[in-house]
Amino acid sequence: MPVSIPRTLSWIGDLPGKLRMIDQTRLPAEFLEIDCETVEDVWEAIKSLRVRGAPAIGVSAAYGTVIGVQGEIASSREQFDQKLSAVTDYLASSRPTAVNLFWALERMKQVASSFADAAPEVVAARLLAEARSIDQEDRNMCTAIGQHGLSLMPDEGGVLTHCNAGGLATAGDGTALSVLFAAAAAGKKLHVFADETRPLLQGARLTSWELQQRGVPVTVICDSMAALVMRQKKVQAVITGADRIAANGDAANKVGTYSIAVLAKAHGIPFYVAAPSSTFDRSLPTGDGIPIEERSRDEISHGFGRQTVPDGVDVWNPAFDVTPAELINAIITERGVIEPVTAEAVAAMIGS
Ligand code: MRU
Repeated sequence: MPVSIPRTLSWIGDLPGKLRMIDQTRLPAEFLEIDCETVEDVWEAIKSLRVRGAPAIGVSAAYGTVIGVQGEIASSREQFDQKLSAVTDYLASSRPTAVNLFWALERMKQVASSFADAAPEVVAARLLAEARSIDQEDRNMCTAIGQHGLSLMPDEGGVLTHCNAGGLATAGDGTALSVLFAAAAAGKKLHVFADETRPLLQGARLTSWELQQRGVPVTVICDSMAALVMRQKKVQAVITGADRIAANGDAANKVGTYSIAVLAKAHGIPFYVAAPSSTFDRSLPTGDGIPIEERSRDEISHGFGRQTVPDGVDVWNPAFDVTPAELINAIITERGVIEPVTAEAVAAMIGS
């Protein structure tokens, strides 16, 4: 019997309020919710991946903005605006790749600008309303992505996914996993293969947990097993999320996604990306301009409380890679499916 999973993110209270989230660094061993009461708490939660996944980072940043300014409602409007600017700049420094972070912060700044003559108390209330809208829109986007992607999934068979693009990564049911949940609800008999997703194991720890909670059959494999799984015809499709998609459809996602796309092409298996319109960065003509986060060497050299690389040995830890558009069969958005993936088709669906 599927269990209902508590929401990844919830706003507690009104103004002032706080952001409650599932601490994803503790899963699957421990289910723990934490409350972020300061903007520093929100920044740290994003930076350390307590909350992660592009859409969830965007929603957290929107609520984080409210947390950062809610103490300033008795200040002058000038002081309030200075604080808003400092808070949004600070949150923008947490992680560089997921464009949803900057998209959400931009929406929050726009709200304040459009109420240029209003008192801080009024602006703070409008900012909370905007954060709630971003949250609700994200949930709606997840549902629509699930419905649009449904027909691309086989009626039965295996589907490979990488990292976690599920409910934990969004305010709703996820992007890639929303498609799989919708397929399961429609009676398709799918078995999911979840890459463990080195170095932080989002696939092993989070995707398998979510699928298990929802009663969808799942097998965790090491990232290096994907070629064998494809060769043995255990999977008929691959679906992942994305952190930033350029105007030509090149898509950044968790490191390792690019190699899965190359393997899928080599085995004649369709490779799909599921992402909301907020993940598109139309200012970048190609994926070459997408900033790729580099994280601490310790995530690789001392990943799980044990040293696995000798002291003094160089380690490189880029958190994302870019899959070229020509390797992507279709991008599933809340507005519809982009197929084939070309700059023209992206512009037609998302705008230019
Ligand atoms: O480093 P993470 O865990 O934030 O990386 C997340 C991913 O790469 C997801 O696939 C992506 O953000 C899409 S989530 C719907």
